Amino acid sequence: MGNPASYEELSANFDWSVAERELGYRQGGPINIGWMCSDRLCHLGLANKLALHWEDYQGNQKRFTFDDLRVLSNTIAHFLGELGIQPGERVCLFMDRVPELYIGFLGVLKTGAVAQPLFSAFGDESLFVRLQNANTSAIITQKKHLPKVRKIREQLPNLRHIIVVDVGESALQPREVSFHMDQAPRIEDFAVYPTTAESPSVLHYTSGTTGQPKGAQHVHYSIVAQYLTAKWVLDLRPDDIYWCNADPGWVTGTSYGIIGPWSNGITQVVFDSGFNAEHWYQFMEKHRVTVWYSAPTAIRLLMKEGTEIVQRHDLSSLRYLASVGEPLNAEAVLWSQKVFGKPFHDTFWQTETGCIVITNFPGMPVKPGSMGKAFPGITATALNPKTYEPVNQPGIAGLIALRPGWPSQIRGYWNNEAGYKAKFKNGWYLCGDRASIDADGYFWFMGRDDDVINTGGHLVGPFEIESALLGCPSVAESAAVAKPDPVNMEVVKAYVTLKKGFTPSDDLELEIMNRIRKRLSPLAMPQEIEFVDSLPKTRSGKIVRRILRCKEFHEPVGDLSTIMDD
Ligand code: PRX
Repeated sequence: MGNPASYEELSANFDWSVAERELGYRQGGPINIGWMCSDRLCHLGLANKLALHWEDYQGNQKRFTFDDLRVLSNTIAHFLGELGIQPGERVCLFMDRVPELYIGFLGVLKTGAVAQPLFSAFGDESLFVRLQNANTSAIITQKKHLPKVRKIREQLPNLRHIIVVDVGESALQPREVSFHMDQAPRIEDFAVYPTTAESPSVLHYTSGTTGQPKGAQHVHYSIVAQYLTAKWVLDLRPDDIYWCNADPGWVTGTSYGIIGPWSNGITQVVFDSGFNAEHWYQFMEKHRVTVWYSAPTAIRLLMKEGTEIVQRHDLSSLRYLASVGEPLNAEAVLWSQKVFGKPFHDTFWQTETGCIVITNFPGMPVKPGSMGKAFPGITATALNPKTYEPVNQPGIAGLIALRPGWPSQIRGYWNNEAGYKAKFKNGWYLCGDRASIDADGYFWFMGRDDDVINTGGHLVGPFEIESALLGCPSVAESAAVAKPDPVNMEVVKAYVTLKKGFTPSDDLELEIMNRIRKRLSPLAMPQEIEFVDSLPKTRSGKIVRRILRCKEFHEPVGDLSTIMDD
C-alpha cells in the first residue's frame, strides 16, 4: 500500500478503474459505502484490526474493530429498517463526534437510505431549513440536542422518527424513540441494500451566495475517488494511525473522516473535543498518530501557542501532514517544517467535488503558499471570467474549473436543478474560486468568486444570516459580509439598518449577535454589527455586498457599472 509511484507516472497512466479493482467493484454491480467500509475489510482478514479509537474531552475512551463496525452498523441498519425507513429516504445524523455518528453513518447507508449529516452546533433555525429542504424522515441525535429538534418538529410533519442515542424511553415524547448502540441486540447478519453506483448516498448542505444552503447530492460510486485520494494524497499505509480533526457535519469529516480511511482499512482516532493545543498534542503523542489531516485555522491557532509546547511532546510518530478548507499560508507551511520537521501539504476541494482535486502530492516538491497540482485523473484549469476559456498564461488569475465526470462529483443539488446547472459553463464545472497557475502547473489560490464567507474553513452563506437578521424585531435591512481575521481568515460582519423606533446601542448589538448564534450557529454569528442609515443598492434595489466587503478588506471596489444596473 501507500503510493510507490511518482506524481508524473501516476498521472500519465491514470484510470479510475485502478480504484474500482482494488475495491472489488464490478461495473453495473452493487456498491454500498456502508458495506465497503466494514464487511469488506472483514472479508479481507481485518476483522480484528482496530478501526476506531475514540476519546472525548473527559478522557472516556472506546475502541471498535472492523468487525465491530460491521456488526454495529448492521444493528443500526436493522433498527432503522424496523422503524420502516425505506431506501432513498433521508436520515439526518445530528450528533457530536460520538461513535454513534461514525457507525450510524455506515448503518444508514446499509439500509439504502441517504445519510444527511448536520453539524451539531447548528441552532434550531439552521437545522429546520435543512431538514425541511431534504424532507427528512428521521433524525438520530443526542439528549443534549433534543431541545432544538423538539422546537421545530411540529413544523416538520414528515419527520417521523427522532432517535435518541443516550436516553431511556421514559424521558421521551411522541415520535421519539431510544436506541442504545451498546445495549441493542447485536445483528450479525444484515441484508445490505444493493445500492448501485448512481444510488444516492450522502446529502451535505453547503452555502452559496443566493438562497438558503443547497443539498449536495452524492452517490455510492463516490467511494472510488475517496478511497484512492485518501490512499495516494494522504499517503495512507496499513499500520498508520490516522487523525482527521474535521467534524462529519462537514464534508471533510465524511469523505476523509469516515469513507477514505475505513475503505482503506486504516485505524483512525477521533477526539470529541474542541480546540486546545495542549490536549491536541497530548492526544497525538498518546495515540502515536502518524497521519494528520487538519485545517489552516487550527494550524494558525497552534502557531499562536508557540514552539515550546510542541517540544514538550513526543510527536516523532507523525509522518505525513495535510490541510484543507482555506488558504494555507506559506508561514504555516514553514512553521510546520520547523516544528514538526515536515510541511503541511495543502489540499483543495469542496463539498461538491467530494474528493481532493488539487493537491501537493506526496513526493512532489512543496511550494509554500501553493495548493499544488490537479490530482491524477482530474483536469483542472483557470478560466477567463468573461470567455470561460482557459487563461493559459502563468500567473494570470482565473476561475478554478474542473472537467466534469470524476467519480465523486455531486450529481445535483437537492431539488435545485437550476442551481446545479449554473455551476457549469462552456463544458467546465466552476468551483466558485479564483486562482492563478504558475509555469510548473501549481495552483495559487486568490479568493472566492462569490459572497460566501469562509470562517475557519467553514462556509457560511450571507443569505442565511441576512434572513435570520431580518427575523430580529429591530432589523429593517441587512447585509452579511466577510471581515478579515488573523486566525479564522474571515469572520462575519453584519451591516444593519434599523426599523423606526429602534436606536443603535451596544445592548442591541449583543442581542442581535446572540440571537444569530443560538438560531444559526456560533460560526454564523456576526463578530461585529455596524448600524448604518442605508445600504448600497443597485438601481433595481438589490443590496451590493461587494462594496461593503471591499471596505472591510481595504480593496478597491473596481468597476461597478454592470452590477449597479442589475
Ligand atoms: O473556497 C474554497 C475553500 O473552501 C471551499 C469549499 O468549502 P466546502 O464545500 O465547505 O468544503 C470544505 C472542505 C473540502 C472552496 O470552494 N477551500 C477549500 N480548500 C481550500 C480552500 N481555499 C483555499 N485553499 C484550500 N486548500
